[in-house]
Amino acid sequence: MIDTLRIPAMSSSALQTTGESNNHSLKNGEMYADGINWDDLGFGLIPIDYMYTMKCSDGENFSQGHLSPFGKIELCPSAGILNYGQGLFEGLKATRTEDGRIMLFRPQENALRMKMGAERMCMPSPSVEQFVDAVKQTVFANKRWVPPPGKGSLYIRPLLVGSGSNLGLGPGLEYTFLIFASPVGNYHKGRAALNLYVEHKIHRATPGGTGGVKSVTNYSPVYQTQQQARAKGFSDVLFLDSATGKNIEEIVAANIFILKGNVISTPTLKHGTILPGVTRKSIIDIALDFGYQVEERVIPVEDLLAADEAFCTGTAVVVNPIGAVTYQDKRVEYKTGGALCQKLYETLTGIQTGRLEDKKGWTLEVN
Ligand code: COI
Repeated sequence: MIDTLRIPAMSSSALQTTGESNNHSLKNGEMYADGINWDDLGFGLIPIDYMYTMKCSDGENFSQGHLSPFGKIELCPSAGILNYGQGLFEGLKATRTEDGRIMLFRPQENALRMKMGAERMCMPSPSVEQFVDAVKQTVFANKRWVPPPGKGSLYIRPLLVGSGSNLGLGPGLEYTFLIFASPVGNYHKGRAALNLYVEHKIHRATPGGTGGVKSVTNYSPVYQTQQQARAKGFSDVLFLDSATGKNIEEIVAANIFILKGNVISTPTLKHGTILPGVTRKSIIDIALDFGYQVEERVIPVEDLLAADEAFCTGTAVVVNPIGAVTYQDKRVEYKTGGALCQKLYETLTGIQTGRLEDKKGWTLEVN
């Protein structure tokens, strides 16, 4: 059996003394990594100290994961991920509280979503416990990279990929679960209100396809549309359903919500074309607590155009206002100034950063 992915393992004792995988010096006991301008974090990769890897082969379960210095990985050219896109990713964040603790937000939800996606993509997956433990280990080993309170978060990117050698079509025999992470700030600079282009020709997902799981193959096919929209001055793209072309579905990296009166609506998950966002699910709960009526339903594009307010949610974007949408030759600007969006954002991030009491048990401390 070819060892298709080679990464040098590192024992946890080595974590105390080495880790020169990037240009930043590692000093024991230091609270924050040096050489970083914490006030100016964007959403890009900053290579940090450690990543986590766990493999499974020949039909066995995942076991014996390990931390290693962050660095390149080696894959067989015939690996399932490279040839046939057999892969999933997740995204979650670790946030620092005012009193210096480090909190994860609902990591079990990401673990469960990865399990669901793995089933669709014919891959074995780590158990929820393995997933959460691996995330905790990764964050703990990289805790100097969790930004100071209010400056951003550590974005954690778990991957599950077919790393086995595979030429014929079909699931391979080896799979790799890998986690890397990076300090990040806002996904959209300054959380500025988005100027969205509603794409009516190209579709992101189809009923029966993989739009409802976090397959790596869902993302690069939107680049072309995104680039074209950006060239015309739009900040992002909203896709319509492929079955009728009449209903709003998803933004490139986020779920969408609209407000009309006291009713908040978001596209239904039931056609399998919408990613079941962890932030989406949390915002639905928070909005219900605030006394809004929340509907998960088919949303005609006309309802978006007639809404009082629109905003989007996601781990990366958190809760971001939408300032305007353009559908064919019609442009609509929202008038509330994102008041609901801001209220939901404050509540969600309040829970995530320990500013507000976590009555729902959503946060998990890393220590
Ligand atoms: C996330 O919010 O974690 C995402 O997956 C967005 C990513 C495509 C940037």
